[in-house]
Amino acid sequence: MAFHVLITDPLSKEGIQVLEQQENLQYEFATDLSSDELLTKIETADALLVRSQTQVTRQLIESAGNLKIIGRAGVGVDNIDINAATERGIIVVNAPNGNTNSAAEHTMAMLMALSRKIPQAHYSLKNQQWDRKKYVGVELKNKTLGIIGLGRIGAEVAYRAKGQRMNVMAYDPFLTPEKADHLGIDYGTVKEVLNKADFITIHTPLLKETKHLLNEEAFRQMKPGVQIINCARGGIIDEEALYQAILEGKVAGAALDVLEEEPFHHHKLLNLPEVVATPHLGASTVEAQENVAVDVCQDVIWFLTGGVVQNP
Ligand code: MLT
Repeated sequence: MAFHVLITDPLSKEGIQVLEQQENLQYEFATDLSSDELLTKIETADALLVRSQTQVTRQLIESAGNLKIIGRAGVGVDNIDINAATERGIIVVNAPNGNTNSAAEHTMAMLMALSRKIPQAHYSLKNQQWDRKKYVGVELKNKTLGIIGLGRIGAEVAYRAKGQRMNVMAYDPFLTPEKADHLGIDYGTVKEVLNKADFITIHTPLLKETKHLLNEEAFRQMKPGVQIINCARGGIIDEEALYQAILEGKVAGAALDVLEEEPFHHHKLLNLPEVVATPHLGASTVEAQENVAVDVCQDVIWFLTGGVVQNP
């Protein structure tokens, strides 16, 4: 009997080609399903492949009769109920490397767009306004970029920010002052990063410990005029606290690729001129989507046919 691989979010064709080369495997693309349709489809699947859109809930996992592996084409597994999967002996794999570069590049694009007010000026010019005074920015050179979370993406951002001649100060639970020294950056506690940074960018996963890490108290500790970038996960920033901090003038600007509720259309933060935003595009490049799709499909095949995976 052929393995049944159910794919419920868009996946790049290079990943599909990997599946097509495997004998004894049938894949089924079924995106934009209602919850009821998904509950029916999952019954016979041996593997489920998703990006961030499909919510892999306990109910979904418990409706699966044959499911052995859930593959996430991307890094974050916060849309998957890992406990429910573990209880049923279902392995969850992700693709942690393939979109690192794209996420770091998007963070830098957001940082530069924010510091030079490029989206606002672009929008104004497209609306026939020639306004040079309103869109005066600030330089990045000699400013301090505070990085919270120095994993793969945070480290790539640090490297690029140094290329912009910024001072970089980072906090990460696994970073030591010696390691920071070796990377040519400053080591700081969260408090020190909040106190000293001109720009703060977050690169942590969304966990119990990081939920609303940037809250009212955190904004109080920041420098006046600080600017915030979040290309990691919504929910790490307390959005009401950010909104108030912008209204009070404490935060001069924010660049957000993610919000707590996605998809987002009518969020009050989006009405503020100080906020620039993209619809969760950090990993949306041709290269990243090829990489993560190939990595996760390869892992699913290895597991189904041999029981070995690269990224459990
Ligand atoms: C990820 O976790 O890999 C990124 O946020 C991209 C995505 O959700 O597809």
